[in-house]
Amino acid sequence: MGRQGRRAQVVVLVVAGVLALAACGVRGAGAGGGDAAGGENFTIKFSHVVTPATPKGQAAEKFKEIVEQRSGGRVTVEIYPNSELYGDKDELQALQSNSVQMLAPASAKFTTIAPALQVLDLPFLFDTVEDIPQVVSPDSAAGKAIYENEALATNNIKVVGLWDNGLKQLSSNTEMRTPDSLAGLSFRIQPSDVLRSQFESWGASSTPMAFSEVYNALQQGVVNGQENPYSNIESQNMHTVQRYITASNHGYIGYVLVINNQFLQSLPADLQTVVQESADEATAYNREVAAKLNEEARTTIEQAGTTTITELTPEERQAFKDRVVPSVWQQYADVIGPDLVNDLLAQQNAQ
Ligand code: LMR
Repeated sequence: MGRQGRRAQVVVLVVAGVLALAACGVRGAGAGGGDAAGGENFTIKFSHVVTPATPKGQAAEKFKEIVEQRSGGRVTVEIYPNSELYGDKDELQALQSNSVQMLAPASAKFTTIAPALQVLDLPFLFDTVEDIPQVVSPDSAAGKAIYENEALATNNIKVVGLWDNGLKQLSSNTEMRTPDSLAGLSFRIQPSDVLRSQFESWGASSTPMAFSEVYNALQQGVVNGQENPYSNIESQNMHTVQRYITASNHGYIGYVLVINNQFLQSLPADLQTVVQESADEATAYNREVAAKLNEEARTTIEQAGTTTITELTPEERQAFKDRVVPSVWQQYADVIGPDLVNDLLAQQNAQ
């Protein structure tokens, strides 16, 4: 090949390289890019704060699998677990700026933007996990209040599912059989006023803190304890630095599966349907695995032998409940919606 031929070959290679790089750029998160057939490709970045093995982590994987398959590869879902891309402090901002397209934060994480979502933080909203689907589904009163929340809509956030992680247990380094045994202890909480009031009612203090910081805070004694379902305690190794867990089932971790609405609306209509249907199926899957994964995590904690799990008698559990129901519920009736709180209280009394 002559010098001119080689030069032409170099030019072709450089142009091809530039075009390939440009294509990668356009296909960045949330943006459409071309494919060989001339259709458009999209990427959904899905960020969360727990491990892939948890009920939320597993449901996110299921969502990815279904979306990618149903869209015939036109939508790719990139999952960023463990707060590795964004954590509690910045993920909602990242969603609104379209740096990520989907999240599934616990209800408490929305307190600043949409305080009414604290409905799911109300202590003793459920007595057992079997009650969850009835109270939290898209067409229940609580579910509707979340799906139709105006503050979320104003912030360009659309709800596409409600996932759960079952019920929370208390952990600390001292045994907690009565509310009085929490007096003087400090607990890490998610940033929710309802949760602050719950611990206050038990005589304890609380510190809001990002999930990714909880293990270190417990290990270093920055706080004495925390509340979470077994799957979160076990997957973060919290049990290795907490000598006691009280099987209190006193509160709920419910996740609000959300998407940047502008991004969703920018998708072709058929892909919008794929996203919603995949979210529905991932929600059903989440409900199937949440209880099982929490049971397994509890067994792992028991086998580790580092932590005593204290079972409460119904009377002992009731003593925790009497301190917060209905007082904390009524305290937040205006924030959550008086009708909804009354409705939920009536359901409790009917039990
Ligand atoms: C927590 O911060 O304790 C939980 O909301 C973490 C999670 O996403 O389950």
